[in-house]
Amino acid sequence: MEVKICLGEGLANVELFLYLVNILQRYQVRYDPSIKLSLEATFGVSRRPKHLPPLIFEKLNKF
Ligand code: HEM
Repeated sequence: MEVKICLGEGLANVELFLYLVNILQRYQVRYDPSIKLSLEATFGVSRRPKHLPPLIFEKLNKF
């Protein structure tokens, strides 16, 4: 059987890493601890959390 792979996987991983790191360098990300976190998942193209807690983004003054 022919095995196919994504030629852009490395590039896609680097792009996602830079995107995430950029956000984490600029914002403090928190959630309201009074909200109960759920581990329930939903399936589509990928497995995703069913209920995402509202996240609080606080801009850091470094930049
Ligand atoms: C999140 C980003 C990406 C996802 C989820 C993704 C996913 C996939 C998937 C599922 C395939 C089919 C593999 C198979 O036939 O079994 C594929 C193929 C391919 N991808 Fe990506 N890809 C991404 C990003 C990229 C990027 C950035 C590039 C190029 C710069 C790229 C280039 C290609 C090419 C050329 C193929 C065809 C490979 C072949 O037919 O041998 N992909 N990709």
